[in-house]
Amino acid sequence: MYVAQPIEWTDAGVVMLDQRRLPAEEIRYTYTDYREVAKAIREMVIRGAPAIGVAAAMGYALGVLHSPAKSVDELRAELPVIREALAQTRPTAVDLFWALERMSSKFAALDAARASLAAIRAEMVAEAHRVHLEKKATDEAIGKFGAEFMPSEGLVMTQCNAGALATAGIGTALGVIRVAFAMGKKLHVLVPETRPYLQGARLTAWELMKGGIPLTLITDNMVGHFLKTGNVKAIVTGADRVAANGDTANKIGTYQIAVLARENNVPFYIAAPISTFDLTIASGEDIPIEQRSAEEVTHIQGVRIAPDVPAAHPAFDVTPARYITGIVTERGVARGPYTESLRDLAAPQPALSTAG
Ligand code: MRU
Repeated sequence: MYVAQPIEWTDAGVVMLDQRRLPAEEIRYTYTDYREVAKAIREMVIRGAPAIGVAAAMGYALGVLHSPAKSVDELRAELPVIREALAQTRPTAVDLFWALERMSSKFAALDAARASLAAIRAEMVAEAHRVHLEKKATDEAIGKFGAEFMPSEGLVMTQCNAGALATAGIGTALGVIRVAFAMGKKLHVLVPETRPYLQGARLTAWELMKGGIPLTLITDNMVGHFLKTGNVKAIVTGADRVAANGDTANKIGTYQIAVLARENNVPFYIAAPISTFDLTIASGEDIPIEQRSAEEVTHIQGVRIAPDVPAAHPAFDVTPARYITGIVTERGVARGPYTESLRDLAAPQPALSTAG
């Protein structure tokens, strides 16, 4: 089945597929400077929480690889600048900060072991590779655990794009749908277009079409109608940050889907890696919500659709934990009360379990 590659490490640099141009054009850029990677994350060349994490890890590795430092001391002094440039891109998806922390910890371990500058450069690139490979394995495991909750046939719904484009693996929410479909479940996916950035219409519809999975595109204001009348059997979306109590930030519009799901007795699942948990914050009230430009609301693909009036664009909303049927991770499924189940899943474990 076709799986998009939003980002790859190559000898020439970090190659990214420009997701702003999909589905009209498949354009790739090669970046050799971490500042270009930061700009690409901010401007949504790459998007989706886990994919942003992979991009941040690769950006960090590029910064180390091409640093003008002539000694480990000089490199150590430069790292906060590299890290900050990548951190100041998008505030909501915690995978970004998880990846930066992981790269910083790797450097600290190499530094403590008195590794040479050349060895540090090579090892930091290898660590970024590992982050990417682990994301792929994580998606596969989430897919296996989550497929069980998909019906043997019928309609399912998702939101935004939590597919290969968003994770650099097979996807989280779309990974669940992909695995279920490959198992022989006869799914048909309802895809809300996800205004204003149209990740549903442009990206999820494209991925499902390329993967041969039947879909119907709907506008966001049709969600209530279809949940009431459409015999939707399950909903699965991704997440950008899961607080300790299970409150979950995801693409704007997810909250209203979850509330309408409860009203219509449709199970609502989140599919997300444990790196998306932020157990340092008690509830969703503390999740920072990215505010993007008004122009993304007043214009579609550069064409003005509204008069020159104020417009708001909170890019994410928070779904309270009580609306979430289960949170599917690479280590299994968390159920309410989430404070305990998330903590148990996140506890250090020897190896990634892919048993399903
Ligand atoms: O603004 P985006 O496109 O980065 O938002 C993406 C989402 O909200 C996804 O649902 C989320 O990151 C999960 S991706 C597996």
